Amino acid sequence: MKPKVFVTRAIPEAGLKLVKAHCEADIWPDELPPARPALLERVRGVDGLLCLITERIDVEVLDAAGPQLKVISQMAVGVDNIDLQAAAARGIPVGHTPGVLTEATADLAFALLLAAARRIVEAADYVRRGQWRTWGATILLGADLSGATLGIIGLGRIGKAVARRAAGFDLRILAHDPGCTPEAAASVNARLVSLEDLLRESDFVTLHTPLTERTRGLINRDTLRLMKPTAILINTARGPIVDQAALVEALTTGIIGAAALDVTDPEPIPPDHPLLSLPNALIVPHIGSASVWTRDQMALMAAENLIAGVQGRPLPHPVPMPPS
Ligand code: GLV
Repeated sequence: MKPKVFVTRAIPEAGLKLVKAHCEADIWPDELPPARPALLERVRGVDGLLCLITERIDVEVLDAAGPQLKVISQMAVGVDNIDLQAAAARGIPVGHTPGVLTEATADLAFALLLAAARRIVEAADYVRRGQWRTWGATILLGADLSGATLGIIGLGRIGKAVARRAAGFDLRILAHDPGCTPEAAASVNARLVSLEDLLRESDFVTLHTPLTERTRGLINRDTLRLMKPTAILINTARGPIVDQAALVEALTTGIIGAAALDVTDPEPIPPDHPLLSLPNALIVPHIGSASVWTRDQMALMAAENLIAGVQGRPLPHPVPMPPS
């Protein structure tokens, strides 16, 4: 008999095919994630769970699933929605999809940086509204990249990929990452500095840390005040790294110049949220990894982790687990 698994949404076919070939799969059919009661109901008795960042996987879910649960496979690199401690305590391995989404996410961070610096969305709206009447010497002026300073907070895989792109745009690169060596930073032309120095000196600040207790609210009322009044903040990491109320205040009072966000807190951001009415805030719906190739690879890796887990083999792409 094939192992039973619950897949919390339809994932790209490449991964689904693999899952269906090896497992008896219950696949959540809706576009929206299962509501909590449905999640608790559908995980009951499964051997494996393939989930997305939209599901909170905690003790309650593990209890609802039961002691036969052998693996949690998340189709994402970040796993802040999963209680790793609880999984480790039960000996349940957790899989994720690192590496394959590095370039796509760095591309999006750079797209947001350029869009905010050169006011692309505002300019496109201006044309759409029929306001383009002549070439204007002083309209829609933005910021130069060449010669400016980019501050990268979190110089892991994605932070480094952003640094590689930045070199081609003649940006000076500062980085803050307590886990990174000066040599590793130098390999992507970045210089390691304190968080305070990075915020004071950067024209663009881009976030690439995981969400942890250390990084939650890292960009807040106090740290925003260290930034230049013209600075642009880019977040393609996780929404709660930024204190959103403090960001609204900073954008409306000129403490910083603009923000471009792929992630918000909460997600989705409510349509009446003040950030959505600010001309200097650009928000897209968590699409960092949303390219066809990347999502196919993520689905394949998630399927491989799931199958290995239900078959009792080591996961090919495991999340490092905390000591249980
Ligand atoms: C997406 O946000 C991911 O962590 O892969």
